[in-house]
Amino acid sequence: MVSKKKIKTVYIAMSADLVHPGHINIIREGAKLGEVVIGLLTDEAIVSYKRLPYMSFEQRKAVIENIKGVSRVVPQSTLDYRPNLKKLKPDFVIHGDDWKTGVQRETRQKVIDTLKTWGGKLVEPEYTSNVSSSALNNALKEVGTTSDVRLKRFRRLLDAKPIVRGIEVHNGITGLIVEHVSVKRNNKNEEFDFMWLSSLTDSTAKGKPDTELVDSTSRLNTIHDVLDVTTKPIVYDGDTGGLTEHFPYLVRTLERLGVSAVIIEDKQGLKKNSLFGTSVKQELADPKQFAQKIREGKKSQVTPDFLIIARLESMIAGKGVADALKRAKIYIDAGADGIMVHSKEKSADEVLEFCRGYKKFKNRVPLVAVPTTYDAITEEQLQKAGVNVVIYANHLLRSAYPAMVKTAETILAHGRATEAAEYCMPISEILTLVERKSNGAS
Ligand code: SPV
Ligand code: MG
Repeated sequence: MVSKKKIKTVYIAMSADLVHPGHINIIREGAKLGEVVIGLLTDEAIVSYKRLPYMSFEQRKAVIENIKGVSRVVPQSTLDYRPNLKKLKPDFVIHGDDWKTGVQRETRQKVIDTLKTWGGKLVEPEYTSNVSSSALNNALKEVGTTSDVRLKRFRRLLDAKPIVRGIEVHNGITGLIVEHVSVKRNNKNEEFDFMWLSSLTDSTAKGKPDTELVDSTSRLNTIHDVLDVTTKPIVYDGDTGGLTEHFPYLVRTLERLGVSAVIIEDKQGLKKNSLFGTSVKQELADPKQFAQKIREGKKSQVTPDFLIIARLESMIAGKGVADALKRAKIYIDAGADGIMVHSKEKSADEVLEFCRGYKKFKNRVPLVAVPTTYDAITEEQLQKAGVNVVIYANHLLRSAYPAMVKTAETILAHGRATEAAEYCMPISEILTLVERKSNGAS
């Protein structure tokens, strides 16, 4: 009998969102050594260190499994290669030599050590240096997004991240800030995942009270301004959702625009901002009627991806945690895709008490929190309590206003503008800011 040489296994991990010649080079090198198995990073693994990929896992898989030289694709659900390596025991792992230094150094060492246990080898072809994925990413931002891709992104984030983070926007410039701002914390790129189209800041920016006075036509204009210059998902503050008979129209309009979710609150009458608490009359809606509004909304939506999130105002109206939990059950039964708990206490105690009760629910849906008054709590603490989405609901407007007042006062106090210059961005910057940002520069 002729002895057959065993085909070697070659393991290559990648995100494969923007496939470029660098990837092809690695696969080609791998295919010379044996059968190439791609460890395709899941959305979850990718968002643990950078932004959600443009394409979903299934889309990326469809691309990469059809590339010449690839035998099969398996999911890699952590940045750490070891779980997959231990399962597959490949003879080779291939990676560009760019990871010898920098944040991936440790991952690399773990790969080497693990391979050693069965005699596997790490092969590191020279990194293809003439392609920059950040340049490709910028080009992608320039292409923008479609309403369908944007809409789906929020659910994908919920599936992929332990806690999803949003901040308010109320016009194009705040949209640009949220789109581009990022900081490095513990070697990870931190960004906002989505934009909250707050009724409070949208109304305040127009000099109007937050009482549903700014009508949805005007609010939709703000959405358009934000959509024009961003790609991140939008969650819309739908106030009370209006009349039950009108709500389905709002749902369909938002969906058509590519908004990912609407949050409606269980109040009625002239809506007052929740942060007034009981210092004004806060009239709660009848929970059965509110549940009916949710049902009508759910019936009217066209895609399976749009979310209708029910917001609990019990604690705002002084009705307590038990009432909030009771209502949460009713709204989930009516089809709510998420629950937002709201409080205007300085301490997070009542929200955390709600979370403990909510954890016991059998049919739990994602939980949203808005730590405006109880702002000492960290995202990590909220996440541990069972919160899935955190919204910083008014901070860009609240920080802009004092800065503008200070500048105006300084000009008045001096009868000229030179003293105010230190509070202002340079002219040269404002001239290019928007152009640069809209072209995808960070
Ligand atoms: C908003 O941002 O408009 C909200 C949250 O609804 S709050 O202002 O806290 O009521
Ligand atoms: Mg609001």
